[in-house]
Amino acid sequence: MRKIITSTGVSKNYHNQEQQFSVLNDIDLNIYQGDFVSIIGKSGSGKSTLLNILSGIDQPTNGQVLVNCTDISHMSANKLDVWRGKNIGLVFQFFQLIPTLTVLENIILPMDFCKVIPATKRRVRAEELLAKVGMVDKANKFPSILSGGEKQRVAIARALANDPDIILADEPTGNLDSATAKTIFKLFSQLNEQGKTVVLVSHDPDCQKYSSRTIHIVDGEIKNSPSRPLSTEEVRQHA
Ligand SMILES: Nc1ncnc2c1ncn2[C@@H]1O[C@H](COP(=O)(O)OP(=O)(O)OP(=O)(O)O)[C@@H](O)[C@H]1O
Ligand SMILES: [Mg+2]
Repeated sequence: MRKIITSTGVSKNYHNQEQQFSVLNDIDLNIYQGDFVSIIGKSGSGKSTLLNILSGIDQPTNGQVLVNCTDISHMSANKLDVWRGKNIGLVFQFFQLIPTLTVLENIILPMDFCKVIPATKRRVRAEELLAKVGMVDKANKFPSILSGGEKQRVAIARALANDPDIILADEPTGNLDSATAKTIFKLFSQLNEQGKTVVLVSHDPDCQKYSSRTIHIVDGEIKNSPSRPLSTEEVRQHA
């Protein structure tokens, strides 16, 4: 299997007035094309920091991140923005839709930014993506009238705008009830079946039912991942 994301010796340190402290410590991680990985760990263990480093939103203090054979650890911010738009679809807990744009316009925006999809095809593509997530009837509405689950569907359609190989999602169901969360996990699962590599940070033990493997982060380090999904009780002990 082809490695699509590789982190080697990745560390992240912060410092306050008194001392330096380590948030991630020597993370070696391989994610393969077609993987569906869930990342779990206690609040503050470093999950979001790791995801942000894998997407180039954040820079590691030490170490290297290769995504699709590109070293993103030290790419300039401008280059990274365009690179990310083409290669990675991001999904967040609080959706981060632009309130002044319609649902359709929210999905066209990353296409306008990256210019991979020809201008004449962007609107039709946005409609197709909305159909894929079951939201085509809301294309001309503004995000504020949508339910949380609907907002997340739109955010997932937006993440697919430039047809990236990789979807990274940070607590995508953290703001949703459990029934809605299930539909969102299923959507990620479908995307994975259609060839997307998916990495999902979640507190919800259900995510493991959909992912192919689980990575535990404990105090900024990867602990050995079990070969079987953890029970709800075991995840609670970790989360
Ligand atoms: N910009 C920053 N400056 C200083 N410390 C930070 C910064 N960003 C994160 N941290 C610290 O790094 C640690 C890991 O944070 P991170 O957000 O990665 O945790 P997490 O596992 O995603 O937690 P949660 O499950 O609550 O989202 C925390 O102790 C946090 O306070
Ligand atoms: Mg987090």
